[in-house]
Amino acid sequence: MKALILSGGKGTRLRPLTYTGAKQLVPVANKPILWYGIEGIVAAGITDIGIVISPETGEEVKATTGNGDRFGAKITYILQDQPAGLAHAVKVARPFLGDSPFIMYLGDNLIEKDLTPFLDDFKSHHLDALILLRPVENPSAFGVATTDEKGRVLQLIEKPKDPPSNLALVGIYYFSSTIHEAIDRIKPSSRGELEITDAIQNLIDFKQDVESRIIDGWWLDTGKKDDLLGANQIILDTRLQSSVQGQVDDKSQIIGRVQIGEGTRIVNCSIRGPVIIGENCHLENCFVGPYSSIADRSTLIDVDIEHSVILQGAKLENIHQRIVDSLIGRRAHVLPAPKRPKAVRFMVGDDCQIELV
Ligand code: TTP
Repeated sequence: MKALILSGGKGTRLRPLTYTGAKQLVPVANKPILWYGIEGIVAAGITDIGIVISPETGEEVKATTGNGDRFGAKITYILQDQPAGLAHAVKVARPFLGDSPFIMYLGDNLIEKDLTPFLDDFKSHHLDALILLRPVENPSAFGVATTDEKGRVLQLIEKPKDPPSNLALVGIYYFSSTIHEAIDRIKPSSRGELEITDAIQNLIDFKQDVESRIIDGWWLDTGKKDDLLGANQIILDTRLQSSVQGQVDDKSQIIGRVQIGEGTRIVNCSIRGPVIIGENCHLENCFVGPYSSIADRSTLIDVDIEHSVILQGAKLENIHQRIVDSLIGRRAHVLPAPKRPKAVRFMVGDDCQIELV
């Protein structure tokens, strides 16, 4: 069994961050989203992992993630020269996959559940494909499935206007090598992509065994700002352990689960967990409220922040309004406001400078 993680794509919904970086490397609780997927796959016992990368962000993904040693896996990088669809990514990865069955994992997705029980089902039932489904409130935004009472998949439709069910396709799939024949049979969709939903529908049309399982627990697709903040909240809630390695002065107060990295200085701050602060940061006269993740080398002075994600090397100073629900890019500077607006809401790209006037 192999795994294929898709870490190319356009990332248009997370611009401007994705102009300068891979969306799969945006941190959730200070760890790249992609790494959670790799860890989940390794935990299911699969260590031969291919990662599909794009020409724009592939080098960054490789440099950050490495050859797999840190995960106890072997990673092979596969260049997809254009974002021509999920099924196109599988096609490009064919030399890596050979005739092996594989898990396909979208690099910006996270699920709470362990992958192993589904893998066991997929193997023991000798399926051609096993897909995971989750009930959602807005099925029109997703690939949607209809199934029979045994979980056999009857029909898949990409973003239907009039959804036949509320079961959305989660970005994790189990495939046998028959998927390659289905991909060879399909044509690009109206948006010009080779769609994995069309390939799976083609398997169904050719009477192959395609089953589904409905997952409970959370499923996070981090491709948009608010989803990313939601993912950050859930991961901090469920997985953060307290540990303070940096220096915290006597005037500071730390409440709840808080992680502070090496070389970080906290001066006269109140920090109310769950909060993670990376290495070599400087925080002075700040309130840091729940569900905040502050990445390495950030500086926050006279700032009041909660439910936000700050990327590496950002600098926020003298902001007199509370910063909420914000995603601040690498090395971004946010400078003071002379007056006091009631609230501000940010989505700021890498290297931007924002001045409130
Ligand atoms: P999507 O989020 O569906 O597509 P996208 O990354 O182009 O994003 P947006 O809609 O915001 O423009 O892709 C799901 C995952 O699959 C994501 O990790 C990117 C990856 N992907 C590829 O590797 N190759 C592709 O051709 C496509 C379309 C996506």
